[in-house]
Amino acid sequence: EDPALIAAFEARVAADEFIEPKDWMPEAYRRTLTRQISQHAHSEIVGMLPEGNWLTRAPSLKRKAILLAKIQDEGGHGLYLYCAAETLGTSREQMIDALHSGRAKYSTIFNYPTLNWADIGAIGWLVDGAAIMNQVPLQRTSYGPYARAMVRVCKEESFHQRQGFDIMMAMANGSPAQKAMAQDALDRWWWPSLMMFGPSDDNSPNTAQSIRWRIKRETNDELRQKFVDATVPQAELLGLTIPDPALKWNEERGHYDFGAIEWDEFYAVVRGEGPTAKERMKARRAAWNDGAWVRAAADAHEAKRAARSAA
Ligand code: 3HC
Repeated sequence: EDPALIAAFEARVAADEFIEPKDWMPEAYRRTLTRQISQHAHSEIVGMLPEGNWLTRAPSLKRKAILLAKIQDEGGHGLYLYCAAETLGTSREQMIDALHSGRAKYSTIFNYPTLNWADIGAIGWLVDGAAIMNQVPLQRTSYGPYARAMVRVCKEESFHQRQGFDIMMAMANGSPAQKAMAQDALDRWWWPSLMMFGPSDDNSPNTAQSIRWRIKRETNDELRQKFVDATVPQAELLGLTIPDPALKWNEERGHYDFGAIEWDEFYAVVRGEGPTAKERMKARRAAWNDGAWVRAAADAHEAKRAARSAA
């Protein structure tokens, strides 16, 4: 690629300008953005499955309506993000095929099963809480369509986190059995939520380049630390114990020190090992195939409309 074009591009990014679809960009910038945005979209869509598992068994109509609204939001987030990724020149079909063939990833967190209602609270509180930490800086990511999609996503994500925390409050202040369920959910979801931020910075192949191109505004470890610092006081408010004996406030650092993450587990889940991952892909392929007639009908309707307006 022409060094002058690269230098001009890097100057624009350094000046905090948004790069738009029609602007010149290095192919590697296009590729890594397509990778990250499409995998972000896959995560939103696959993430609907664990929560969908509890829709029919929500404890009240109110909780069912709230969960329905959240799941619908996640589907919308996936669609905004697929649209943002399409502006880089990859089609929806290509992205879906990459997911179904296992070439593309989605967040490991969605390969964990939801065993009871407290999991729905822990997901909203911790998983959406972690997603907010990661997505707020992405509102200033250098690629315009991605940044704009994030503005809307972040507004809805705050409601997702609040409703999850509200479920945890109800259970932690409920009967001893309910409090025990909330603690068990925290025990199972805490470490997988920390893994959502990705490998540590010294093991993250994409972070350095993503920071240079201002795709990422903060590193995996910085965001993970922010999440821990914000979430520990919330667990204290709930009267629940975070399952990390090494967790301790470090006055000098002004942050919480915390224990080592089980990276073997992380990479095994990234590779899609374990029963839940196979279930997730089976459900996604079925949904894509079952929905083919809707896409065909929409295409036929669009073709008729276009023919009418051309006549
Ligand atoms: N699950 C699966 N794969 C992961 C992962 C995770 N938790 N964390 C990292 N990886 C993958 C990366 O995709 C990369 O593989 P690839 O090169 O094949 O894509 C590899 O592990 C190395 O990681 P890097 O840190 O080098 O990769 P990135 O620089 O892309 O950082 C990321 C990973 C922090 C997830 C970044 O891609 C990102 O910020 N993505 C946007 C946010 C996102 O996708 N969040 C997922 C959850 S969405 C969600 O929670 C929705 C909410 O509504 C519930």
